[in-house]
Amino acid sequence: MQQHTYPTPETFTRTRSGELFETAKTYFPGGVHSPVRAFKSVQGPPIFFEKGAGSHIYDVDGQAFVDFCCSWGPLILGHCPPEVVKPVQAAVANGMSFGTPTPFDLEIGKLVLDNHRFIEMIRFVSSGTEAVMSAIRLARGVTKRDKIIKFEGCYHGHVDALLVKAGSGLATFGISTSAGIPESFAKETIVVPLADPEALEQALQQYAGDVAAIIIEPIPANNGLLLQDRAFLQLLREKADQYGCLLIFDEVISGFRVGFEGAAGFYNIQPDIITFGKIIGGGMPVGAYAASRKIMEHIAPVGPVYQAGTLSANPVAMAAGIATLTELLKPGFYESLEATTKAFTGRLQQFCDSRGYEMAFPSIGSIFWPTFSKKSIRRSDEIDGSKMDLFKKMHLECLKRGVYFGPSGYEVGFISAAHSQNDLDFAATQIERSLDLVFGV
Ligand SMILES: Cc1ncc(COP(=O)(O)O)c(C=O)c1O
Repeated sequence: MQQHTYPTPETFTRTRSGELFETAKTYFPGGVHSPVRAFKSVQGPPIFFEKGAGSHIYDVDGQAFVDFCCSWGPLILGHCPPEVVKPVQAAVANGMSFGTPTPFDLEIGKLVLDNHRFIEMIRFVSSGTEAVMSAIRLARGVTKRDKIIKFEGCYHGHVDALLVKAGSGLATFGISTSAGIPESFAKETIVVPLADPEALEQALQQYAGDVAAIIIEPIPANNGLLLQDRAFLQLLREKADQYGCLLIFDEVISGFRVGFEGAAGFYNIQPDIITFGKIIGGGMPVGAYAASRKIMEHIAPVGPVYQAGTLSANPVAMAAGIATLTELLKPGFYESLEATTKAFTGRLQQFCDSRGYEMAFPSIGSIFWPTFSKKSIRRSDEIDGSKMDLFKKMHLECLKRGVYFGPSGYEVGFISAAHSQNDLDFAATQIERSLDLVFGV
């Protein structure tokens, strides 16, 4: 068994990470290339990592951590699985980019489409944001309408029209959550609460004839884990049909995570367009959007909806995607990962219950969310923001003991196929000790 140099509360250090972060701040805004990496919602400077292997990541101060962030979701097989690394190395040696079709295109196309009943054609892009942006354009091109309905608490990447929050009222025009987004763009988006059929109906009635698409994370996992009833998702399908708009499932997280067919397969609901990212690229920068042939043939060069990309379907990234997806198709892959996750969250739940700690660990597939509430939470306004201080403490205590969570209480955790029983036992023990300190025992 591999020995890991885990930190302890006595030895934990961020000396080198802290130094690097100071320099990074002079080069990059906030020292980072994506805001959540800056550790603004938790304590101390971000940790700089230099190596990953299986379920572990290793920082520049020589410490090992069990990783529950897993690069925010792509690494369903853990870090550097040999089944993925080898074909990626072979692909790199043959050429990193051609800007032409390659045989990898066909291989990944067949792999995905032969094993996913809800889509007939797919287009690869380079990020989840690009996938969603393109899916929205496609929906607008198909319906010749402009407005989009989105749900408060769902994140769809930094697409202009979707970086919006609700105003006051049931169904409102979006208010931009970022500077630099013209008000006119935000106004094309109507924001409604999750799990609220009435608000949805009101929005559709008010803007009937203008709505191109309803977009949802069918498993909302960017604002905690706001699991929806199947009936609500089914209602979206029916309402989209009734009002002549398209239903987009943003499966950048849930795609290939809760099953090869993602949330569409899990709930057995047919969306019109599905967006992918994260797992489909096996850790490389990949996104994709997919739909029926009829819808996809609106895209250039066949149809009038323009979308292009220099590095789209990059051969190295496709090699990583193919190798990863191939592993996921092996019998029992998802069942085993889900059982592992349930056992892990079940142990933590039992611990919290036995101590009387107000905490829950909702999960689906191999996604889980440590939350300082026992209520079932389905909408973002049901999350008690004041409890995020408890997460902050837990995060620090876990770091000091060699357990790495994404640096915000609104983020979910991921378990990979590389997380062994030993790793999870170790992590659970450290989390339990951390919670004792959080709750003041
Ligand atoms: C549901 C969802 N959609 C879109 C995106 C954007 O993907 P990317 O960060 O690859 O641009 C994310 C990113 O976390 C996501 O979770």
